Amino acid sequence: MLKIKSHPFSSLKRTVYHAIKSINEAPTLYSIPSAKLSAGRMQAWIIYYYGTNQQFTLSDSVPLPIIFSPKDVLIKVSASSINPIDIRRREGYGGKLIDAYQSVKNFVQLRGNQSNKLEFPITLGRDFCGEIIRKGPKVTKFNVGDKVYGALDVTRQGSFAQYCAAGEDEICLKPNNISDAEASALPLVSLTSWYAIRKLSGFNEENSIGKRALVIGAAGGVGHIATQLLNNLGMETTALCSQSSFDYVRQLGVEDTIDYRQKDWLSELSQKAKYDIILDTVGPKYYSFQLMNTLLNPGGTFVTIITPIFRNVDKYGLISGLSRTAYTAAKQTLYGWSNNFNYRWAVYRPDGEVLRQVKNLVEQNKLTIKVDSKEFSFENIPQAISYLENGHAKGKVVIKYSSFR
Ligand SMILES: NC(=O)c1ccc[n+]([C@@H]2O[C@H](COP(=O)([O-])OP(=O)(O)OC[C@H]3O[C@@H](n4cnc5c(N)ncnc54)[C@H](OP(=O)(O)O)[C@@H]3O)[C@@H](O)[C@H]2O)c1
Repeated sequence: MLKIKSHPFSSLKRTVYHAIKSINEAPTLYSIPSAKLSAGRMQAWIIYYYGTNQQFTLSDSVPLPIIFSPKDVLIKVSASSINPIDIRRREGYGGKLIDAYQSVKNFVQLRGNQSNKLEFPITLGRDFCGEIIRKGPKVTKFNVGDKVYGALDVTRQGSFAQYCAAGEDEICLKPNNISDAEASALPLVSLTSWYAIRKLSGFNEENSIGKRALVIGAAGGVGHIATQLLNNLGMETTALCSQSSFDYVRQLGVEDTIDYRQKDWLSELSQKAKYDIILDTVGPKYYSFQLMNTLLNPGGTFVTIITPIFRNVDKYGLISGLSRTAYTAAKQTLYGWSNNFNYRWAVYRPDGEVLRQVKNLVEQNKLTIKVDSKEFSFENIPQAISYLENGHAKGKVVIKYSSFR
């Protein structure tokens, strides 16, 4: 269970906070008038403890999200999607690091205001699509009534709720040629892919034509978006996925397919021309950096979205966990440098500008999102999570919040 302990520097933070408050305008909490919005309460799926799907409770008396920053908006959610991170978070994954990150964020952004802590009961869910119903006074990019999509920062309460709050720099107008449900499936997987390929590995329209890419887990949520982004950059892509997905990934523009369930997948892969980027969405249990190195061209990049940061901090505590993580990162980076390869960890983060580029690609029909054919409603969110968890999903699992229309 995530325990929110008082921070050792809390009294110092309070002093600094009151000092700043006395000489500056006080930080404003843009709370939502309750009259129009069911007396300031909403329906949300909450958990009181980490654990299995049994932890979910549907509550109709969860306080509405508070707009802490003048650049935040309040969104009425119309659809959301499930990601593996929602399952991991339900189990407690990342709790300690998120707690520490939030303390720092509170101190820097909210001048020590302690009330913006992610406390139990927690609402999970990162992805959303919905309509802005209220905005802070410094929001300039959006208006009330705009339909937007995005992925919430890990320190915010989630989107498995009637309403969620997000910063204006974290969201974007929804692509206008797809449904709300499809739009809600895009943000987290697109942001992760974009960061991995473009921001961290440095590939763009100028330097990618004719380069070769291997995507491990190419048919998955992140994998199928990453595959399309790589193809859009003019790369020749190989997909490592199960045979049942071969036709699908070929439709996405993949040139070569290899079935990871075949015994000789590695020798088959080794016979191919080498790669300039290997994007891993599956992790070191199956594909070690050292093994993948042998498949890279000199100067190539191995980028993985499976990082040990949260796991190490959960297991060893903040200081030891971060130290171990830094050691692993340094070791792999040095190994890469000494062998003329790059090694990168990619982590998603909310970014409205990236979502704007994703929207453009979607509207130009250069990027499509695969959504599972089974539909879930807000009332069935735990069933939707089980559906993904039990390996039934063939595409992103989306939730329609039609009961609130
Ligand atoms: N770092 C970040 O910020 C970040 C962001 C998003 C996701 N993630 C993590 O990234 C992982 C993938 O996320 P996702 O949303 O893409 O999940 P997903 O939709 O469940 O996709 C996982 C894919 O991996 C494939 N796969 C499983 N075992 C494999 C293997 N041994 N070799 C090759 N492919 C294999 C599966 O293919 P088959 O179905 O064909 O077996 C499936 O298509 C999750 O662990 C998630 O927590 C990290």
